[in-house]
Amino acid sequence: KDLTSFNTLKLPARAQQFARFFSISELLTLLDQARQKQLPVKVLGGGSNVLLGPRLDGLIIQSAMQSVTFLRENSQFVWLKVDAGKHWHSWVLEAQGYGHGIENLALIPGTVGASPIQNIGAYGVDVADVLESVQGVCLSSRQLMNLSRQDCRFGYRDSVFKRELKNDFVVTSVVFRLAKSFTPRVSYGPLANWAAQHPGFTPQQLIAQVCDIRAAKLPDPALVANAGSFFKNPVVGHHQAERLAADYPAMPAYPQADGRVKLAAGWLIEQVGWKGKTLGHAAMHHQQALVLTTDGEARLQDVFALRDAVAADVWAKFAVELEPEPQLF
Ligand code: EPU
Repeated sequence: KDLTSFNTLKLPARAQQFARFFSISELLTLLDQARQKQLPVKVLGGGSNVLLGPRLDGLIIQSAMQSVTFLRENSQFVWLKVDAGKHWHSWVLEAQGYGHGIENLALIPGTVGASPIQNIGAYGVDVADVLESVQGVCLSSRQLMNLSRQDCRFGYRDSVFKRELKNDFVVTSVVFRLAKSFTPRVSYGPLANWAAQHPGFTPQQLIAQVCDIRAAKLPDPALVANAGSFFKNPVVGHHQAERLAADYPAMPAYPQADGRVKLAAGWLIEQVGWKGKTLGHAAMHHQQALVLTTDGEARLQDVFALRDAVAADVWAKFAVELEPEPQLF
């Protein structure tokens, strides 16, 4: 099965076997069959945060389940269970009929099932803020599991699914807790300016504004192959942050609760001259240097070459290490 159109970087990839599942029992059957044939199993979501090699051994599975189920409510909140295969942005729009809290996450590519893996986040909100629990199957034990928000061990672009359960868990659904009243979070600079000028804005208007901000900076994966931010924003110790701030007074820096300081990878990349620059079939985006784009002809090696060149230059100038965000599949 050719998976080139199943990853938003459009890296050429062929899977030994590929299957979509429409029910949990279908999933369990697939896992049994893979075990009998001794095929390793890997899970693909929307393909917007993965780096695919040309030949993918084993069985690649993808959820085709897309239901939204009302679970319960109280005076403040409503709980909904959403299947992993649901398109993330469609869920953000549909959620408006139930409650609030995910407006800032509009237009993030990918699926609901992928959202807890890297704890998707934008404009001051991350999915951990509204997530109640995650359901799925552990691949090695084949146990059905229900993980609470605490079990997920969320951090910045991080979770148990990238650590202890890495490559060992298939998310089948996510339970969200939405607020019945709309208390928007608009501390992110460009959103704060807009909010101040639009008192009494509606959730729909906030969604539209988030979409506008994204469209102005981030390339549409339907038009230009990319996987969103290619590096995580690096977090450094406060001594290093102070030294850097002294040398580069204009450098964006965000102090964290633990005393460390998060830097803006896009700014660092721009400073070393990679913004808008191409290497082979890959480039760093001209409006947002943190986004790596390809010309649709790139192979994994082209992406690695640009990753290494950018990270080496940032290291040489700032002694800051950049860690890629998309997961090598
Ligand atoms: N900046 C530059 N040059 C650039 C890009 C950014 O100087 O080319 C500066 C900006 O001026 C700003 C700072 O860097 O002062 C931060 O930029 P921005 O607000 O655009 O956000 P980001 O830190 O680059 C992160 C997330 C995005 C998310 C935005 C908004 C990560 C890895 N990325 O980007 O998430 O949309 O904040 O909250 O944390 C993603 O993960 O794929 C993603 C797009």
